[in-house]
Amino acid sequence: MKPSSFQTALDHLRAGDAVAIPTETVYGLAADISQPSAIEKIFALKKRPFFDPLIVHVSSRDQLSSLVEEIPPIASQLMEKFWPGPITFVLPKKKTVNDKITSGLNTVGVRMPNHPVTLELIRQLGSPVAAPSANLFGQTSPTQASHVRDEFGDDVFVLDGGPCLIGVESTVVGFRAPVAGLCKDTTLPGEIVIYRPGGVTKEEIEHFVKDLNDSPRVVVEQSPVAPGHLKHHYMPKIPLVMIQNPVSENSLELSAVQRAQIDNKLKFGDGDWNPIEMTLPSDANLAARELYSELRRCGESGASLILLHRSADKDSGLWSAIWNRLEKAATLIL
Ligand code: TXA
Ligand code: MG
Repeated sequence: MKPSSFQTALDHLRAGDAVAIPTETVYGLAADISQPSAIEKIFALKKRPFFDPLIVHVSSRDQLSSLVEEIPPIASQLMEKFWPGPITFVLPKKKTVNDKITSGLNTVGVRMPNHPVTLELIRQLGSPVAAPSANLFGQTSPTQASHVRDEFGDDVFVLDGGPCLIGVESTVVGFRAPVAGLCKDTTLPGEIVIYRPGGVTKEEIEHFVKDLNDSPRVVVEQSPVAPGHLKHHYMPKIPLVMIQNPVSENSLELSAVQRAQIDNKLKFGDGDWNPIEMTLPSDANLAARELYSELRRCGESGASLILLHRSADKDSGLWSAIWNRLEKAATLIL
């Protein structure tokens, strides 16, 4: 009998191979954290530099306890509220967590993904898995099994769990004294620091913490050791130009100055353009879900550049994560 794809994925993970797994955010390229050579395969397949740490995915709070030194009460409360779900917690790591996973940092990023197949896979493996997004380093993240197959072909087994429902990566958060217990002066207000905006919005976190005693502030701070910290990330196969001040409703219509800026930066021969317009639904949840498919569709359309209008009125909730990805994906912002 042919083994089910679930069983095949499990066998690969046990054998120390990297496997593409579905999550609610994006597909991940997963490996068993207890096998150092499996972790190295992730970096090799993705061509990812070792200084970019991986997120560890757990299926239970017990697994979490095996990874981190301490769980501040506020982190525990946020987990209770948002896990399983698109939020990653950066916490002080146990010595036993392989330094390759954390790029030598003394913290580890951990999340419990909200996908039944992947939760069961981790449970049966009996070990957490490290998993970055299943794309080549710096390029567009995958939200369907076919995206991963297009990128890695036969090199990676893909466990198909359907299209990702959220469509942008998890929110990465850390904690600043005194909530993390790093500072003895408990009169200071604690802070929840959002290093990468994502599937759980700043507003949702603020709404949740406002009713707690001594509610911490929520600040956004894109740390140098964090999330897609390199300026260019999530990039499509052709240049993306984001237009902040459109001259008309039609994205393909540009002012003479904008045309000159594009020519200058992208070195197209005069008039030698073949642009495609990228559009997103006006509903933030739908826009997030379609973001990476649309970037891929435009990138593979045969056009030579992608033009996208940035709507000034859409700037809260999930839009923060969407624009964060698009700003990094863009070659030029006008
Ligand atoms: O939704 C997600 O988070 C997806 C799915 C597969 O779970 N994963 C994902 O992984 O987006 P990746 O590797 O593409 O992005 C993880 C980001 C990295 O840019 C890394 O800098 C940050 O999380 N990160 C991981 N551990 C960290 C740590 N200890 N301190 C600060 N940032 C960390
Ligand atoms: Mg990624």
